[in-house]
Amino acid sequence: MDTIRIMFICTGNICRSPLAHAVFEHKVRKAEVHGIEAESSGTDAWHVGEQADPRMRRTAADHGVKLNHKARKLHRNDLADYDLLLAMDRDNLRNVLSLCRSESEREKVRMFRDFDPEGTGDVPDPWYGGPEGFELVWSLVERTCTGLLEEIQRGRKPA
Ligand code: 4NP
Repeated sequence: MDTIRIMFICTGNICRSPLAHAVFEHKVRKAEVHGIEAESSGTDAWHVGEQADPRMRRTAADHGVKLNHKARKLHRNDLADYDLLLAMDRDNLRNVLSLCRSESEREKVRMFRDFDPEGTGDVPDPWYGGPEGFELVWSLVERTCTGLLEEIQRGRKPA
């Protein structure tokens, strides 16, 4: 079975995408699914090397998920190295697409919430807001990671 490599992308790589990365890995482990690798990164470099935002870490911990990631910037080569690159909002999507060098790279870039069973659109940036923004990010990320894992497992089933 081929390994599927998934990159979660937001702006700073300290709130939304590290959460998606950790929640998705948590679900993959729990479901004992093999052959999936996940990573996360940001379109901007402001927070490179930093731990996830303490507010995001606290929200994740309240739900039983530990964040342990150091922020890194998305690199052009990631477009070749990953099979699916998932943008948290439309700005992120535009920035990721601007790094693509071919149609085959562009085809791998999607909105993260394309896998949300309850809707589509942005995972709103929680950085400037209050705790309710982080709770909203949690709920969108939680159910979308479930949808994503189910979609991958469906895609792997023999016809
Ligand atoms: P993220 O949130 O993209 O979910 O990591 C942000 C973190 C920092 C900033 C913006 C968004 N910032 O402007 O520094």
